[in-house]
Order: sequence, then structure tokens, then C-alpha cells
Amino acid sequence: MESFRDRIDNNKVPKHVAIIMDGNGRWAERHGKVRVVGHEHGVDSVRSVVEGAGEIGVEHLTLYAFSTENWDRPKSEVQALMELLVHAIEAETDSLMENNVRLDAIGDLEHMPSHVLDKLNSCRNRLQENTGLNLNLALSYSGQWDILNAAKKLAQDLADRKTNVEAIDYDLFSNYLSTSHMPNPELLIRTSGEYRISNFLLWQIAYSELYFTPKLWPDFRKDDLFEAIVDYQNRERRFGKTREQLTR
Ligand code: IPE
Ligand code: IPE
Ligand code: MG
Repeated sequence: MESFRDRIDNNKVPKHVAIIMDGNGRWAERHGKVRVVGHEHGVDSVRSVVEGAGEIGVEHLTLYAFSTENWDRPKSEVQALMELLVHAIEAETDSLMENNVRLDAIGDLEHMPSHVLDKLNSCRNRLQENTGLNLNLALSYSGQWDILNAAKKLAQDLADRKTNVEAIDYDLFSNYLSTSHMPNPELLIRTSGEYRISNFLLWQIAYSELYFTPKLWPDFRKDDLFEAIVDYQNRERRFGKTREQLTR
């Protein structure tokens, strides 16, 4: 049978794919392990998906790695996730370099531990001349934080008379969001069978196609990404118009 990779229309590859990587804890539980082992296996999935996204020419891949709400998990799990992030960045930078990947992060990064930020920044700097996939990690991120933060910065610019109320439109507001330098995701994927957004990109997914899979994140591989993209390519995106208007 033809693989999902072969069924992808290269002319209709989404420029931006966002993923809510969920189900690490349940994966661990099913394997009789502690939660952090699930997170560790999740790194293999990230590696595979980053490779796959690069192969088919996705320009931006945004991965929800840690939400604002995740700070409320047990301290030991938060700490383990932060250390895992540091180790994963250390271990993966060489292969990201080989794959021509750039790295960036969005979120309330001031709340991240400084040694994690240092690691992130040094990796980002090393990869900054690359020209392939832009890998964007959402860390200490929430969609409501993003919108609130944008509103605050805009309010400051209004107070400083750098802009005026009449100038505020969708484009101007978007420029204050953490994703200002990328298009909105055409496709949002969530693993683990949960049907919710969990405060991920809110403004940016206004017209994204949503794809839910019961697969737990540590079981997700590039082939699952390709399957999601084939599904996405078979949808009709109407943006409020009628079908007749689209074919004209
Ligand atoms: C996703 O897996 C990883 C993070 C949220 C950091 P979970 O840890 O949420 O796994 P489940 O949902 O409990 O299975
Ligand atoms: C969403 O997953 C956050 C990340 C994947 C980083 P959660 O497991 O935290 O979300 P809920 O609790 O199911 O809404
Ligand atoms: Mg979860």
C-alpha cells in the first residue's frame, strides 16, 4: 500500500503545523513506569516529527511543550521536565544542525529557570544561520497569556504615542503576539484522544484545521504526522465562503 508520505501533495504542504504533545503520563502508566519515563520517550517523538516536518518542507513547527498551567504540577515533575529539556537540547543540537533546523521559543520565558534559558539561547544561536525548518517550542506558554501580553505591549505603545487607536486592526494586533514572525498554523494536531485546546494558541487557530488522534505522544512518529497532513489535504477550507465561490 502507498505510504502516507507518498500520498502527500507537495504543493499543499501546510507552512505552519502546531502540535499539542499530550499523553506522556498515560503512556508511562500503561508501561508500568513513572510519568517522567513517558516524557523521556516523548523526546524520540519530537526527533522523528522534526525530521519528518523538515523532509516535506513544513516551514514552522510549533510544539506545545509546557503550558502556563503545567507550573501547577507537582514540583518534582516540573523539575524533571526542566532537566529533560536541558538534556534534550544538549543531545539534539548536533542533529538539528545537520538537519538545517532553526530553534526558537515562545511563552512567558521570564518564568523559566535561567539555566534552561541559557541552554535554549546557546542552541538558538548555534542554529540561527540555518535555513530549513523553524522549530518553535512553546514553553511556559498559554494563549491567554499571549493575547494579554500583546494587549499590554499595545497599550504601552499607545501611551507612548507610537501608535493610535485608529491604526489598530488584525494585522497590527497580530504583530504584538509571540508568533508575529510566522503565519497562523493551517493545521493543529493533538495527541492522546483529548478534544480540547488547553490554552494553546487561541488567536492564531481561528481558522486552523484541527486533527485529533488517540495515539499517545510517545507513540507518535513522522508517519503519524504524514497521516495527519494527508487528512488535512483532503479537507475543504472554505473560510466562511460557499463551495461554489471556491471553485470559481
Ligand atoms: C504531555 O503529557 C506533556 C506535558 C504536558 C508536559 P502529559 O504529562 O500531560 O501526559 P498525560 O496527559 O498525563 O497522559
Ligand atoms: C497541554 O497538555 C499542555 C502541553 C501539552 C504542554 P495538558 O496535559 O497539560 O492539558 P490538559 O490538562 O489535558 O488540559
Ligand atoms: Mg496531559
